[in-house]
Amino acid sequence: MTDRTTATLRIGSKELELPMFSPAAGPDVIDIRKLYSEAGVFTYDPGYTSTASCDSTITFIDGEEGILLHRGYPIDQLAEKSHYLEVCYLLLYGELPTGPQLEDFQSLVTNHTMLHEQMLYFYRGFRRDAHPMAIMVGVVGAMSAFYHDSTDIRDPWQREVASIRMIAKMPTIAAWAYKYHIGQPFVYPCNSLTYAANFLRMCFAVPADDYVVNPILARAMDRIFTLHADHEQNASTSTVRLASSSGANPFACIAAGIASLWGPAHGGANQACLEMLEQIGSTDRIPEFIDRAKDRDDPFRLMGFGHRVYKNVDPRAKVMKQSADEVLELLGIDDNPKLQVAKELERQALSDKYFSEKRLFPNVDFYSGIILEAMGFPTSMFTPIFALSRTVGWISQWKEQLEDPKHRIGRPRQLYEGETLRDYVNVEDR
Ligand code: SDX
Repeated sequence: MTDRTTATLRIGSKELELPMFSPAAGPDVIDIRKLYSEAGVFTYDPGYTSTASCDSTITFIDGEEGILLHRGYPIDQLAEKSHYLEVCYLLLYGELPTGPQLEDFQSLVTNHTMLHEQMLYFYRGFRRDAHPMAIMVGVVGAMSAFYHDSTDIRDPWQREVASIRMIAKMPTIAAWAYKYHIGQPFVYPCNSLTYAANFLRMCFAVPADDYVVNPILARAMDRIFTLHADHEQNASTSTVRLASSSGANPFACIAAGIASLWGPAHGGANQACLEMLEQIGSTDRIPEFIDRAKDRDDPFRLMGFGHRVYKNVDPRAKVMKQSADEVLELLGIDDNPKLQVAKELERQALSDKYFSEKRLFPNVDFYSGIILEAMGFPTSMFTPIFALSRTVGWISQWKEQLEDPKHRIGRPRQLYEGETLRDYVNVEDR
């Protein structure tokens, strides 16, 4: 960021000059770090609609234009020309890898996909009907009890080890959460498969049968991983950053991110969206649900629609929609009713002024569930797959924060609306 002019803030008769910075891209920022010490006031921004919580070089979003860049590369180019592990390298280290660098990185990840055998018993503590996200939060948090040699965040080598471990082991953790949930035996990773193919095999192979990964599904799975890899300072990434600011170990921070992602307003929207499409059932019921979404007295929202930052179509949703068409056609599922409902719902919503005036468009979660369901996943696995994909984003942002000499513990203040000072009253006098 470069110094720019200053912003003059007048409070009563007092004037305060606040420094302004111009970023590489996006809005200028006003540096308010000295505001309280010099003017004795706080800013007020619940939901952080106008607040930059950090500086970062990883991901840039232009919500007005519907642009998403990872280290400067547009998401649609990465989704078409790259693959998930190469995008992981880009997010972690800032540049696309050379051939040898990519080979080494892929080998490193591939050879760390197994879990400590003792962790098997940790799964057995859960009820079989536990949501896979509940299992993932628990298992990832428990990793700090198994991998002590990569929990010291002050040690760059241990940070690197923890980063690779998280990216490598998350597919195994998610697949085993699924297998445990459906009562099938765990399938161990297979090093001869690609990252996405390995995940599909760990989810769908059974000991009683040979399992050959469908390359179409492996490519679609890898693209879904890429589309969810990182997304600037969203709720779960901000959770990871805030948890990490206290010096918490990486596994605890990622577990906090998983917990935050689970919410239906965030990563849980892909499951909620498919359940919504099931509830709508047919295109003739779409007007009824659009009316409910527009009714301020009705808590119903169109799941997979709207976004805090995008006031244009989420570029990931465009790629996801195209992928849904391709995958369903290649699988011979031409007349998928949920896809027909989704496309008609999108068409009707986008031609309704409520959505156009509020600039509400489909987001990454609107079409992803249709592909995942066609691949054989139950809705309960949609958010775990989002968490698996976003692990590299959380880890990259976690690493960036720890390497930033400016970073300090995050400690927001508040607008206090409660009781002012009063004396205790004994119970007999109340
Ligand atoms: C993700 O932040 C990220 O980057 C997240 C994410 C990532 O990759 O990390 O992109 C992933 O979380 C995508 C979003 C998934 N969530 C959903 O699809 C759930 C449905 N969407 C909404 O809940 C909502 O749009 C949010 C939560 C996504 C955004 O909420 P905001 O920014 O706080 O917006 P808002 O709730 O203030 O809405 C502004 C207006 C409101 O109307 P008014 O009060 O002004 O009259 O738009 C309305 C809202 O009622 N609105 C909707 C709506 N979303 C917003 N109305 C109907 N249906 C919707 N989906």
